[in-house]
Amino acid sequence: MTIQRTFVMIKPDGVQRQIVGEIISRFEKVGLKIIGMKFIHVDSDFSKKHYSDHVEKPFYAGLEDLLVSGPVVALVLEGAEAIALVRKMVGSTAPSGAAPGTIRGDYAHMSYARADEKKIGVPNLIHASDSEESAKKEMGLWFSEAEIYDNYDTVHSKFM
Ligand code: CMP
Repeated sequence: MTIQRTFVMIKPDGVQRQIVGEIISRFEKVGLKIIGMKFIHVDSDFSKKHYSDHVEKPFYAGLEDLLVSGPVVALVLEGAEAIALVRKMVGSTAPSGAAPGTIRGDYAHMSYARADEKKIGVPNLIHASDSEESAKKEMGLWFSEAEIYDNYDTVHSKFM
């Protein structure tokens, strides 16, 4: 068992639908520790850095349009096998294939069904790092070291 850190972003569609609290609450309930969190509106240059693996793909324009359309919540979560755990909780990329019980499976179906008609990227609510390598890259892009707060204990808090 390895303690890992992973990067998560609640995309503009998740913020606009006012389910930020619901999503973060799911991560807290399984014991993942929030060690970085910010509300931020990124631009096109930043989108190209974040999605550098997808810039050449045919769907990139829609992906960028969605990402820069409003503020997002960026998070760094820490916990046992956090990268795989968070990916499992998020569900598969296309909301149509995301299992019930996952974040995308529970919340993204309806907006996904309307996406084509509105000609926007896949509104799948949330992004999560898919490997240790991408977690490292994404945490470094979105957060400075000074913005990471891992110096508190969730198990032995004096407030419990
Ligand atoms: P995300 O988890 O943010 O990581 C990359 C994003 O690219 C993904 O969610 C989708 O929003 C988008 N994406 C990946 N594959 C496709 C595809 N085939 N068509 C449209 N969008 C895609």
